[in-house]
Amino acid sequence: MTPALRPVIRQAFTFCATLTLFAAFQATAADARPRHPPGTVIASAQALATDAGFEAIRNGGNAFDAAVATSAVLAVVEPISSGIGGGGFFLLHDAKTGRDVFVDARETAPESATPEAYLDKQGELDVDRAENGPWSAGIPGLPAALVHIASKYGRLPLRTTLAPAIKLAREGFEVYPRLERGYGSRREVMERYAGTRAVFLADGTPPKAGEILKQPDLAHTLELLAEKGRDGFYKGEVAEKLLKGVADEGGKWTAAELASYQVREREPLRFKYRGWDVITAPPPSSGGVALAQMLQILEGWDLAKLDEAHRVHVTVEAMRRAFRDRTIYLGDPDFVTVPMARLMDRNYAAGLRASIHPEKATPSALISGKPAPLEDDETTHFAIIDADGNRVSTTQTVNLLYGSGMIPPGTGVLLNDEMDDFALRPGTPNAFGVMGFEANAPKAGKRMLSSMTPTFIENADKSIAIGAPGGSRIITEVLLGILGYDAGLTPQEVAALPRFHHQWMPDVISAEKGALSPEAVKALEAMGHTVNAAEPTWGNLQTVQWDRRTNTLSGGSDPRNPVGKAEVQPSDAKGK
Ligand code: DON
Repeated sequence: MTPALRPVIRQAFTFCATLTLFAAFQATAADARPRHPPGTVIASAQALATDAGFEAIRNGGNAFDAAVATSAVLAVVEPISSGIGGGGFFLLHDAKTGRDVFVDARETAPESATPEAYLDKQGELDVDRAENGPWSAGIPGLPAALVHIASKYGRLPLRTTLAPAIKLAREGFEVYPRLERGYGSRREVMERYAGTRAVFLADGTPPKAGEILKQPDLAHTLELLAEKGRDGFYKGEVAEKLLKGVADEGGKWTAAELASYQVREREPLRFKYRGWDVITAPPPSSGGVALAQMLQILEGWDLAKLDEAHRVHVTVEAMRRAFRDRTIYLGDPDFVTVPMARLMDRNYAAGLRASIHPEKATPSALISGKPAPLEDDETTHFAIIDADGNRVSTTQTVNLLYGSGMIPPGTGVLLNDEMDDFALRPGTPNAFGVMGFEANAPKAGKRMLSSMTPTFIENADKSIAIGAPGGSRIITEVLLGILGYDAGLTPQEVAALPRFHHQWMPDVISAEKGALSPEAVKALEAMGHTVNAAEPTWGNLQTVQWDRRTNTLSGGSDPRNPVGKAEVQPSDAKGK
């Protein structure tokens, strides 16, 4: 070693020692932080569902019991969005083991669902079959998830956690405007089916805001689920009625494929973004991979330092690139090989970043698909943190408004229309304008690709759960939410954030009215972007946060939806 180098080394040593001391100080500060939140926070799209979650906590349950109770009530009071005829994803953090787990309760394709089954005589996609009635429905996953989560992670029997949902189904709940509007837009489809008419036209007229909607058959089905677990839904009386109802309307499900439905526990995806650990949805969701790509691309800029137009420009270019890969590579990992290592790689993101021109839009190579529907959002997200530090972030769906529109008679179970999330015809856009190819082709037992992205983001100070409905827009809602948290916003501010979206195809920036300033729109257009700057609002984001620095819980419920509720309840003698 030459003497000239010594001071440099001494300096380096002093620097390292300072770092070590700083790290030790930080560790001590972190150790002094509370280990448990001071109560429970729940944010969901329906006040009645949030209340049911708290009832489970009061009965001695944990966040997972609360999730079962909340989910079941949503299935009853928000049939427009989710239900036991549909599926969903649950991201769980088990405080006892420190483990994060992703419970995949996505619907699966029945054997009858060959690609040919969805083409008309001209070889075009039969959109009616894809979106409505028995052929549009996959084998439901949510009932199996409720049983799985209750028995593996919860403390309470389903008899207790499903009780509020059963009561609301039997005694009824008050119809709200969104339910009435949604019925109006799906009426023609729903009234094709005797089982659906028996529920929604029980008094001879469609549901109206302010009326009480009762679902006695659904109450009975939920009771069987509570009593018999999986077998109460996938075998016996309910299964027989589901099979008959589907067959009577010309569809084909088998008893074996119902009885063999299984949820899958998967490892969540993990990556870092500016000091946050992001824990999110793996395939068959496309959301986590897209989030990883977009955030790792965006890490190349200090977004706070960019002007609005350039911030939106680089964000949109990241969205465009992630959606291109979604289209080509993503599908059910049990059936296709998704090149995860490459898609999640920071160097791959760096390569994509390098392809972004700082001042010019990159045209999406293909012609436009059909625009995504906008009016009311289906699908539902909720988030919970309990006093033990257990966390839940879950998105559940029947796909489009009221799913397939079809209730097999006597079950009360509104079937999903999730089959439309497959690439039923290669390269033909689905209801959300996204398309796919071989990786997402339908096949017996396969799960259709999803955009649902229940996510946790965490650092030493905060644990956050976030997610949203909105079809393909889910992914960009969650992205903007994470960027909002990184910029220091509160959960309620994150839920209220104005939204913009790009999905590669169609090659257009969609923005809620007022989300972008007129100057930014002009600047973006000058860069070569097409901007729809005055679209109606979308999404219904729900998010909760535990801030360890102040040991406070807080929640955010999307103000676009007036019937949601985020609430914090402190632990008390019974509250933990
Ligand atoms: O899984 C998916 O990606 C879709 N079935 C979600 C549908 C949805 O969010 C509808 N809301 N607008």
